[in-house]
Amino acid sequence: MARHPETDAIRTQTERTSEKEHSTPLFLTSSFVYDSAEDMAAAFADDSLDVNIYSRFSNPTVDEFISKICILEKAEDGIATGTGMAAVFATFMTFLSKGDHIISASAVFGSTHTVLTKYLPKWGIDYSYFNMNVPSSIESLIRPETKMLYVESPSNPGLDIIDITSVSAICKKHNILLVVDNCFATPAVQQPIPLGADLVIHSATKFIDGQGRVLGGVVAGRKELIQPLYLFVRNTGPSMSPFNAWVLTKSLETLFVRMDRHAASALKIANALTDHSEISWVKYPFLPSHPQYEIAKKQMSNGGGIVTFELKGGVEAGRKFLNNLKMLSMTNNLGDSRSIASHPASTTHSKLTEAERQGVGITPGLIRISVGLEHPDDILDDIKQALVL
Ligand SMILES: Cc1ncc(COP(=O)(O)O)c(C=O)c1O
Repeated sequence: MARHPETDAIRTQTERTSEKEHSTPLFLTSSFVYDSAEDMAAAFADDSLDVNIYSRFSNPTVDEFISKICILEKAEDGIATGTGMAAVFATFMTFLSKGDHIISASAVFGSTHTVLTKYLPKWGIDYSYFNMNVPSSIESLIRPETKMLYVESPSNPGLDIIDITSVSAICKKHNILLVVDNCFATPAVQQPIPLGADLVIHSATKFIDGQGRVLGGVVAGRKELIQPLYLFVRNTGPSMSPFNAWVLTKSLETLFVRMDRHAASALKIANALTDHSEISWVKYPFLPSHPQYEIAKKQMSNGGGIVTFELKGGVEAGRKFLNNLKMLSMTNNLGDSRSIASHPASTTHSKLTEAERQGVGITPGLIRISVGLEHPDDILDDIKQALVL
């Protein structure tokens, strides 16, 4: 009988050493030794040999983290990187060349937007944006040189959702790689690869870590796609630290339990805020009012841990709301055991023009709550008292 993914997230472990440790060991070492000059020569002669040489190339603790992600994402293979942005950048650099074109949802994480609009054009790679709410526009943007379609679902911070199966059908028809950033959902909630994505990316810094401790990234997909990515990371250096991999692989043991609790509390909070007098709308993937609710129900097992809402009082109300909070943390991270509030218009996205903010789905009074693992009533009490504006 096939094991459940919850069990694999706990029981997939590096082979026990002679010390008979119960918890997984941490191989905090930069390099590995050889028994002979011949073994060393053989290790360097063949890139595909399954032998540890140097931790920029591979490391048993990092490999354990990758193996677990692959099992959870139902992927053949994967690579791990130092941050989520290193995973995004390595993917772009491996599969896009001068003269190529990438189509991306306009609602993507800020640094991904910067790479697409400021760095890729510098190297002769062109981009087009489409609106997540109008996926029918994708086909009209496809050119002979289009190589990749990039989406986040749900998106950060707009919580837009795209039907991964139908976008995958478009990509297959035109021979384009579909890359999905699955950071907001995590593999406990959504697995893009069985839905048709070619590659799935994570910022492991968020819910995968789950306690706001370390940075990390991962890409998973078919072996033939991971091999060139592995060589890019091995040779250019954005590899994951074994220490971070140890923290992250331990975190995966609790991912399913945590995501259930994040999502149950988020749904409760989203429902409770829906009719609040200071709020014009609440957005959460599993609220029937979400524009893509039916798609969310189809491809996600719960709505995840992020809730957004719009304050009627705009930017000023957003600032006041943050200042009124007594328990929720004011920080730009998300996916922590501690609940976090952010107001993109006055903080992370304050340098953008109003039009640019609108373009990426950031309205003046938009508040993003990363719902933590505290008692949901305590989270709600703090939000409600801060809503006296
Ligand atoms: C959706 C998404 N993708 C990628 C990243 C980048 O990850 P990192 O901060 O680990 O580089 C983030 C970070 O917030 C994110 O939210």
